Amino acid sequence: MASIYDPYYDDLVKIQQKVLDDIEDIKQDIMQKKGMNPIEHCLSRIKDEASMKEKCLRKHLPINSDSALHKIQDAIGVRIVCAFLDDVYDIRDALLHEKHYDIIREKDYIKNVKPSGYRSLHLIVKVDGYFVEFQLRTISQDTWAALEHHMRYKKDIKGDIKLIESELKRCADELAATDISMQTIRNMIIEEGE
Ligand code: GTP
Ligand code: MG
Repeated sequence: MASIYDPYYDDLVKIQQKVLDDIEDIKQDIMQKKGMNPIEHCLSRIKDEASMKEKCLRKHLPINSDSALHKIQDAIGVRIVCAFLDDVYDIRDALLHEKHYDIIREKDYIKNVKPSGYRSLHLIVKVDGYFVEFQLRTISQDTWAALEHHMRYKKDIKGDIKLIESELKRCADELAATDISMQTIRNMIIEEGE
């Protein structure tokens, strides 16, 4: 069966690999400068066929490669998870300085928290004509997003949805407070060592 990405799938794979190589370089660079690994882990994916088709339908776009590659901006997705908030912004700054990246959009949901409590810094970048969506977040933010995503797709929730949502939001805010404390502790440790 024809793929929605035909005949460009191989290009997507190449761009994905190129971006992962860039991230490895950025990591090495920051490690050299700061002596600490800024990346806890990094995941990437090419949006699977079914999700891409579903997204085209949701956005009222024809199901073809033009929609998938030129209208929708997250065929290639990269998630970079960091231990500390400062690491998130170090990586962000480095990505913004990549010469062959055309920065399309930045959405800082860490400073502008979503009503759900979702926190992450998103960058939409064009690399050699293809969109890449970066999601940068801390381990706490990643944990919350994973659990919330899990519950969002649980269709048969019987409890009080409003209460569940407000409890999830409270958890997100508590984790955010902990991220700030952890960053403060790390700063104290760094200063101590100087
Ligand atoms: P999409 O059409 O879903 O791509 O959303 P959008 O174009 O409005 O972009 P947005 O930046 O809001 O979301 C992009 C991606 O961020 C989503 O596909 C999710 O991976 C993630 N995301 C955004 N909001 C939430 C949220 O409330 N909870 C979780 N778990 N993930 C979210
Ligand atoms: Mg998306």
